[in-house]
Amino acid sequence: MIPLGTQTLSKSPTQFVQGVAPIYLERGRGAHVWDVDGNEYIDFPMALGPVILGYADSRVDGAITRQLANGITFSLMHPLEVEVAERIVSMCPGVEAVRFGKSGSDALSAAVRAARAFTGRDHVLVAGYHGWHDWYVGSTTRHRGVPPSVRALTETFVYNDLADLDKRLTAHAGEVAAVILEPSGLETPNDGFLQGVVDLACEHGALSVFDEVITGFRLAPGGARERYNVIPDMSCYGKALGNGMPISAIGGAWKVMREFEDVFFSGTHGGETLSLAAAKAVLDALRDGSVLTRIEVLGRQMLDGIHAHIDDHGVGARVRVGGEPHRAVVAFSGDDSLIVKSWVQQCLIDGGALFNGSMFISASHSDEDVARALAAFDVAFTALEDGRDVRGLLRGEPVQDVFRSP
Ligand SMILES: Cc1ncc(COP(=O)(O)O)c(C=O)c1O
Repeated sequence: MIPLGTQTLSKSPTQFVQGVAPIYLERGRGAHVWDVDGNEYIDFPMALGPVILGYADSRVDGAITRQLANGITFSLMHPLEVEVAERIVSMCPGVEAVRFGKSGSDALSAAVRAARAFTGRDHVLVAGYHGWHDWYVGSTTRHRGVPPSVRALTETFVYNDLADLDKRLTAHAGEVAAVILEPSGLETPNDGFLQGVVDLACEHGALSVFDEVITGFRLAPGGARERYNVIPDMSCYGKALGNGMPISAIGGAWKVMREFEDVFFSGTHGGETLSLAAAKAVLDALRDGSVLTRIEVLGRQMLDGIHAHIDDHGVGARVRVGGEPHRAVVAFSGDDSLIVKSWVQQCLIDGGALFNGSMFISASHSDEDVARALAAFDVAFTALEDGRDVRGLLRGEPVQDVFRSP
């Protein structure tokens, strides 16, 4: 009945070795989840990032249930909109005004529209993943259904390469409305890169937008703006903001954000209060930084540990790990990269942990959770030594690409 089987490609059977991985998860507590057969796993995808405090967190759940008793969404504005906006403004440097959406894609699409309105231009330069809407996904290999005229307006630039960005801004002189990037991902920013992006965008009359859907409220209480000490024109937040509730936000300086007085960004559920109540509880839990410091310490063990195992087994040509400790990214290369990814996933699952490439650390993961994952990586990498073919070791069909290389 459900095309693809589910609503999110990255949770679908195409992304997990069938016959090895669980298919349906039923419940979670802390950093652990249980499938419908009652099997327990340590979760590292963490619902693709949002669950920063852990599943069934009592502070978040308490805030949601207290609000639930008073109603979910209303016919006029609600004070929680202001209370959450005040927290974001006080935590994120340079953010003077905020609007809310339900998904990261909402926030990014709103940023593009505001940038187009502000600059009177149409083109957008991107680096990273920015959601499912036409303006972005048209620039990827999953562009079916996106008109060529829309696709022509978005172009990818090379992360950590200011010369490439400059070249593209110059080639589209007077046409680029926004330069949008994930401030860090598998790669972290070289010294001066993020400030260089902001400066180059400004020189060319474009707005700079940080896609902080992953980095926001994760790398620091003030996200990438705080961690890297760089202030773009706008930042988009999602995921961690709601600990799993559907809420996103766009923030920036008033001179840009005032566009939303008039630019149409408006939906029935934009001010839905259960998500706002959750966000308020999340921000109160994160604002003093101690939770994120602990996440960083544990994430450092994970990142350094995976690195050490890659080096020990000499498998760096096939597997690499990068990113910030809060979310290390394990990436695979070579003709058999999907086989190798599937093998590593199979080993992690055999070791009791879910794996999709992103090692999202939450406040609920323990030293033992990390140690168990590292032991499973050790097993996986042992079999990959000397370029060995692991296809025959897979107990199910390999996972598929989300986006193919163009
Ligand atoms: C960096 C980044 N931007 C935007 C999005 C889109 O967010 P959503 O899936 O909530 O629409 C994602 C989702 O994975 C993301 O990782």
